[in-house]
Amino acid sequence: MQIIRSIDEMQKISLGLKQEGKKIGFVPTMGFLHKGHLSLVDSLRNRVDVVILSIFVNPTQFGVGEDLDQYPKNHERDIELCKDRGTDFVFIPKSEEIYGDRFSTFTIEEELTKCLCGSTRPTHFQGVTTICAKLFNICQPNMVALGQKDFQQVTVLKRMIKDLNFPIKVVVCDTMREKDGLAMSSRNSYLSPIQRRDALLLYKSIQRAVNLVDEGIVDSDQIKEEVLTILKCGKLIQVDYIEIVDKENLDPLNKITPNQSIIVLAVWIEKVRLIDNQII
Ligand code: PAF
Repeated sequence: MQIIRSIDEMQKISLGLKQEGKKIGFVPTMGFLHKGHLSLVDSLRNRVDVVILSIFVNPTQFGVGEDLDQYPKNHERDIELCKDRGTDFVFIPKSEEIYGDRFSTFTIEEELTKCLCGSTRPTHFQGVTTICAKLFNICQPNMVALGQKDFQQVTVLKRMIKDLNFPIKVVVCDTMREKDGLAMSSRNSYLSPIQRRDALLLYKSIQRAVNLVDEGIVDSDQIKEEVLTILKCGKLIQVDYIEIVDKENLDPLNKITPNQSIIVLAVWIEKVRLIDNQII
């Protein structure tokens, strides 16, 4: 496994691999890897010839007052995990090189980024699409693996890939959960034991929504109401949103449409923002 820190070198390697006819799989991450990230590597391993994983805490996707400075970091551990998982290249660029002098070009998706997380984090997705467009140009992937946990991110990136004709296939991997159901996230490391107890209510409330649909309830308001009741049991929880939307275009749905509806939620547990979702 090679660790590459320069953009030029990474791009030369990727273009060279493409010329040799090799298929490149790519896993973009912000590091502090967990089993969810590693499952993304696994999902590509047998589909491509070479797997590149990037580690870059992207400043442009953090809003003012968000956790950019505290974002957890452990490159040595990440590199060991990648080695064990059969990653071929780990790309760890420097912020000064990614966003060089007088950087002024952004990639903006204008429809799907207005709702859900985009309402409270208005510049977040523009940071995500910009860095991913840059990383795609640098790493030249044929396939990119993304986690279902960041469902809106997946939807936005799929749209960007389609709209801007990136020749990339997206592989979406299931959310990996801790034994108690908490969706894996690098941000879980911020949670104190008391906060973590409240965090479990996200999964519990989503399960309740699934059960209600199984019982034949199709009214979105009724389901959202029950989800809210469960989340309100968490003394430290402040709900950002609970929505049931169409999984392709994020339009709100009044009624559940089987396999087309997804329940998405975002909460604050004191200063920690967590998201989760489930297709219902
Ligand atoms: O999901 C993430 O970790 C980030 O948003 C991504 C896709 C690596 C872009 O910085």
